[in-house]
Amino acid sequence: MSRRITPASRRSLLRGIAIAMLAAIFLAVPEAWATAPICENGATASPTMFAPRSVPAKMILDLSWLVWGICFGIFLIMEGLIILCIFKYRRAKDDDTEAPQIYGSNPIELAWTIVPTLIVFVLFLVSARTIFEIEKTSAPEGSLEITVIGHQWWWEFDYPEYGFVTANELHVPATRDGKRVPIYLTLESNDVIHSFWVPQLGGKTDVVPNHINHLWLEPTMTGTYVGQCAEYCGTQHANMLITVVVHPEEEFEKWVAHQKTEAVDDDTVAVGRDLFQRTACINCHTIRGTVANGTFAPDLTHLMSRSVIGSGVVSNTADNLAIWVYDPQILKPGCRMPSMKLTKKDVTEIVQYLLTLK
Ligand code: CUA
Repeated sequence: MSRRITPASRRSLLRGIAIAMLAAIFLAVPEAWATAPICENGATASPTMFAPRSVPAKMILDLSWLVWGICFGIFLIMEGLIILCIFKYRRAKDDDTEAPQIYGSNPIELAWTIVPTLIVFVLFLVSARTIFEIEKTSAPEGSLEITVIGHQWWWEFDYPEYGFVTANELHVPATRDGKRVPIYLTLESNDVIHSFWVPQLGGKTDVVPNHINHLWLEPTMTGTYVGQCAEYCGTQHANMLITVVVHPEEEFEKWVAHQKTEAVDDDTVAVGRDLFQRTACINCHTIRGTVANGTFAPDLTHLMSRSVIGSGVVSNTADNLAIWVYDPQILKPGCRMPSMKLTKKDVTEIVQYLLTLK
């Protein structure tokens, strides 16, 4: 029995292919994913590069659309021709004659050499222009400069302009004097190669030991954006998360004023404070205004102003802090902080102290 393809079945096949292609396009534009807040720190659910909230991120996406557009056009033409040939030039039933054998065609060969060369040339020029615009080698005028230092496995953020250091949560203003403000990051590593990537704000940039890279962000909207280390850097690479909070101008000024202050000194938690200062904690952590001045681990001066601990591994609650202080390896196996073998009572006292570091 012959299984001939009827015009109706051919039409429905082509319609099916068209629907599948359209569905693929719409699934690739997940603006909706980017606006549904589900994270504990209020960040958007999916750090998608399809919803840019910064000038360079938008430039990268525009370039991507152009590249995909051209590639999709080529795909449609090529697949269309293949499908056309499959159906139109099938061997007819009971037809054993050999098709005409054609060797060489100068016009066709020239066309398929010149056209792809032109396409590659256009893509090269447009990509080069975007790369040069994004890769600024000096800080744009009026920018806020911040030094980002990658550590195994957390992020340090130094604000030289304000003279304080914080960790894991990068806070920046959306505007200064009512004008959008470029954020100019200087990226350094304390150990191995990391990569700083917040998809909605900019492209990923490697953070290399003994080398300085720069990254320019220019947020276009306030909000909380999430990102993560994008270069495998050891056991806890996956838990090297980044939160960027883009504040309205006044809110940012308030945040800065608060971060500049020294740590709260609350005598009701003197037991925990003294315990902290007697253990090895102070060799790695800084709490400004106390004897703790280590720089190997996150600055804890305003620990409680952060929503997460362990670079995003868990939310910053009293219970999680207690587990962390008792033994960080429970929450983040392999991390550089060892268990101090404290008693449960000492852990409770230290956590009471940490909770005052607002
Ligand atoms: Cu740091 Cu991966």
